[in-house]
Amino acid sequence: MISYTPKIWHIADVLKWSKSYLKEKGVESPQIEVEWLLRDILKFSRLEVYLKHDRPLSKEELLKFKKLLVERASGTPIQYVLGYAEFMGLDFKVTPSVLIPRPETEVLVEKVLEILKEDRWEKPIILDIGTGSGNIAISIAVNYPDCTVVGLDISSEALKIAKINAANNSVSERVDFIKINILKESPQVERYFNIIVSNPPYVAGEWFENLPEIVRKYEPVQALNPGEDDLVFYRRLGKLSNTLLSLDGILIVEIGGSYQEENVQNVFTEYNLGDFETIEDYLGQNRCIIAGLNK
Ligand SMILES: C[S@@+](CC[C@H](N)C(=O)[O-])C[C@H]1O[C@@H](n2cnc3c(N)ncnc32)[C@H](O)[C@@H]1O
Repeated sequence: MISYTPKIWHIADVLKWSKSYLKEKGVESPQIEVEWLLRDILKFSRLEVYLKHDRPLSKEELLKFKKLLVERASGTPIQYVLGYAEFMGLDFKVTPSVLIPRPETEVLVEKVLEILKEDRWEKPIILDIGTGSGNIAISIAVNYPDCTVVGLDISSEALKIAKINAANNSVSERVDFIKINILKESPQVERYFNIIVSNPPYVAGEWFENLPEIVRKYEPVQALNPGEDDLVFYRRLGKLSNTLLSLDGILIVEIGGSYQEENVQNVFTEYNLGDFETIEDYLGQNRCIIAGLNK
């Protein structure tokens, strides 16, 4: 009699098979992503995945893994498959209602923290315009306990996620989220914020059409695409800075790269901002512009 013994899948087998499967499906970094899926299912550190190559997966673990793998292979970004993304060393819940936080945006947060640590303001109040998952607002609050932050977004769904993220990172008491269409409305305060920070939608027109499919198809268009005019949010930020920012306050924005730098600075100059500084991201792209009000 032939007896059927189901194949036992060890971590090493799963890694090898799934890596080539994802590669075939066009995933750019299959090894890293398979490891990430495994770590999530097994609650392992990256090191454990390496050290326990001969650990067999149970039937349940295999089923769970297969479900996630198929979802990733269908094109869904891994952060949406897993339901979270890492930013500034913290975990953020993400769904397709929010942009996946990008490593280059960490440069913006690091600059804000550097300025905050100069202790220019006793209890600084910070405004994050277009907060999305709350990644900028929350990582600032986590890393600088003496500040309060207000995050604004047009998307109610995004704000729900942001609130969960604030609670998960234990900063709900110092971070408020408000639904607002910043192109049409404004917080009703004057010279209230010491820092305004924003990573606004800036991928306009053709730039948007040329984004990789994984971004264009899965991430919220509203978070990326401002329409035909890539400067529309920068104009609004320039204008709002004149009422919302304290006279010694600072505006810090993310930009798409060197191609936007001069145009954004020109817009800000029209709105009485100056003293510009540009910061590069880890890939050497001009990524942030810092400005202050001309006195
Ligand atoms: C580029 S995403 C930034 C998300 C997050 N802050 C980050 O850095 O990953 C821009 C955000 O602006 C929001 N947004 C778009 N149009 C808006 C508007 N008119 N008023 C307020 N927020 C808006 C989007 O919903 C999105 O969350």
